[in-house]
Amino acid sequence: MEGSPSPRSVALVVPHGPPSPSPRPLRLGVLASGQGSNFEALVQASRHGALHAEVVGLVVNTPHCKALARAERLNVGATVMDHRRYTSREALDHALVDHFRALQVDVLIMAGWMRIVSPVLCQAYDQRLVNIHPSLLPAFRGLNAMERALAAGVCITGCTAHLVVPEVDAGPILIQAAVPTYPDDTVATLAPRIHAQEHRILPVAVAMAGRHLFERP
Ligand code: GAR
Repeated sequence: MEGSPSPRSVALVVPHGPPSPSPRPLRLGVLASGQGSNFEALVQASRHGALHAEVVGLVVNTPHCKALARAERLNVGATVMDHRRYTSREALDHALVDHFRALQVDVLIMAGWMRIVSPVLCQAYDQRLVNIHPSLLPAFRGLNAMERALAAGVCITGCTAHLVVPEVDAGPILIQAAVPTYPDDTVATLAPRIHAQEHRILPVAVAMAGRHLFERP
């Protein structure tokens, strides 16, 4: 019917709306490993007024990933930090902290960052490190979340934006979107529905994390 959403686009987002905007634009740093669609969603939300923020830098760990090409098109400074060039997880995270501190980043976002982070990064960006994950946490933590949700036969899955702690996908939840699955779903059909909701909730989560910054005593 004209004007009604297609049943395949139905989603429930909780909480609904963004918090009041921060007193000044948040300076955002983004970490990505692949397509970078969530990175682009943050840039667009910042540029179109949905998020009081500016994306000041992208770091990717995989040379030639699509996120890099997006950064070039969107005119956002991007740096490759190939994890294979660092002696340990902590060494990479120290380099990330140095990089984003130099850019005076307020909130750092793991937008498809397919690396486990160490306490080095979690502590440096305590309450200011946000991850987006393609399941309704705490269900399906870790890799291949969509595959595992479909294999488990869940009727509802979704995505979660949460603060990052050293335990993988276990930090405090900021916002979630619930997305239905359908009997004929595959990862290829489910992924676009989940991505559309990720792009919707991630800017809200960033605004929520930004509020922590200004509400601290
Ligand atoms: C997103 O679906 C995100 O939830 C997922 O990677 C995708 C990145 O897409 N992250 C994880 O699975 C982390 N455990 P994008 O590169 O197009 O933003």
